[in-house]
Amino acid sequence: MLAKVFSAAIIGVEAYLVEVEVDISQGLPGFAIVGLPQGALKESKERLRAAIRNAGFSFPLQKITANLAPADLKKEGSAFDLPLAMAILSAARIIPQEQLRGYLFYGELSLDGKLKPVSGVLPVALLARRKHLALVCPEKNLGEAALIKGLKILPVSHLKEAAFNLGQEREFCLEQAAESSAPVPDLSEVAGQEHAKRALEIAAAGGHNLLFIGPPGAGKTMLARRFPGILPPLSYEEALETSRIYSVLGLLDPERPLLKERPFRAPHHTISDAGLIGGGNPPKPGEISLAHNGVLFLDELPEFRRNALEALREPLEAGEITVSRAQMSITYPAKFILLAAMNPCRCGYYGDPKRPCQCSPQEVRRYRQKLSGPLLDRIDLQVEVAAVDYEDLARERPAEPSAKVRERVLLARRRQKERYGREILNAYLGPAELKKFCHLGPEERRLLERAAQKLNLSARAFHRVLKIARTIADLSHEEKIKTPHLLEALQYRVFDRLSW
Ligand SMILES: Nc1ncnc2c1ncn2[C@@H]1O[C@H](COP(=O)(O)OP(=O)(O)OP(=O)(O)O)[C@@H](O)[C@H]1O
Ligand SMILES: [Mg+2]
Repeated sequence: MLAKVFSAAIIGVEAYLVEVEVDISQGLPGFAIVGLPQGALKESKERLRAAIRNAGFSFPLQKITANLAPADLKKEGSAFDLPLAMAILSAARIIPQEQLRGYLFYGELSLDGKLKPVSGVLPVALLARRKHLALVCPEKNLGEAALIKGLKILPVSHLKEAAFNLGQEREFCLEQAAESSAPVPDLSEVAGQEHAKRALEIAAAGGHNLLFIGPPGAGKTMLARRFPGILPPLSYEEALETSRIYSVLGLLDPERPLLKERPFRAPHHTISDAGLIGGGNPPKPGEISLAHNGVLFLDELPEFRRNALEALREPLEAGEITVSRAQMSITYPAKFILLAAMNPCRCGYYGDPKRPCQCSPQEVRRYRQKLSGPLLDRIDLQVEVAAVDYEDLARERPAEPSAKVRERVLLARRRQKERYGREILNAYLGPAELKKFCHLGPEERRLLERAAQKLNLSARAFHRVLKIARTIADLSHEEKIKTPHLLEALQYRVFDRLSW
């Protein structure tokens, strides 16, 4: 007899409907799964035999053929155990076929028939709601599934429950456990460094990328770690988008499945290209996608592998990354603000007024050449951070707290939303919008053209200066970009200015 149930496969961060068919016929006892199953799927045959038996059912001693359709969809992972088991039980006439209609089954079985939590439940739950199906998933994944409003869920901890509790699915409304994550450190702890703090504020207001350049101990890392505290809170839609990526990697906390804070990812420079960008086999989202809607912090930027840095160019421009595989290409979301820090040379003291630099001119050049022009071109704000003197540290007046800065950031973002009529930040304006919304008067235009010639700005850099000037004007509640805004924006192109 033939039985069919629905399940799902994940490609990128999107779930696709898969139909699991099982046919049991007379013939030599055997069990075959067709439909491009991967190694992991083949292992599930052994799990299925044991789990079905240990759930108290007899495993049919007939010819069993399972098919996962569509065949051309690449299927990974172990979450097909549950739908396969249900289809086998139905084809063996243990569960009536009508009872399985209207469900999407997703979960891995252990040998004793218990269900194990799986990754990717959030996108699968979204799919189930779109297809008007109820979701049967491991109980441990309930928190994730319940994030989707209007979805009926049957959480199960054992195959037996899946077989006997059909019809008892319902909507869940779970209270997310209170926040326990460590509070973000505050900007007020950083003495002085007004110039660097101003750059952080501009970056947060307009979504611009930012690079700090300075000697060891200047406070670059300290400043960067305080950046999330001045960013606006995550909206529900953004939280869901980002949580979906974490779901696919199985990184969501069952107690607090919805991310409440913008991600701040700070991968070490020894990270592999695939770990940073995404990819690998099976392909997975990388750090840049885990930073989606948040911040990617690359400390010691020139230490990262050149290939990995070059690969950042696409997502920095497009807000997503496409990973090509032999059979297909997968696109992962990756819209983040890039924060980076570096020393001016290998020893760290090039240009320092107090300590001599140990590097030869060639060494200085080689160190900086690790960063390609096209990458630097995409970093709108480049800021030199000089060390603060000990006396200054003690003398400094108490600095402004993050909450104050954040208020200004929120106001500047509101201005952008009102102007553009949608959620888009200055950093992402296209050429047409730039022309329309970053209009310059004749005097300002002359100034910018002169500066562009002098600094030998590329067309991209020219536009980036305009965008920063737009954000600076927004922070000072001005609709027109004026000369002081342009002058400040031009200061943030250290690499062009110093002809490094
Ligand atoms: N402006 C400052 N206000 C208060 N503390 C500071 C300041 N600058 C530096 N410090 C102190 O110095 C420490 C080192 O700073 P940090 O690690 O941010 O330096 P860095 O610029 O990242 O150096 P490196 O180039 O070696 O990575 C901080 O943890 C902090 O205690
Ligand atoms: Mg540092």
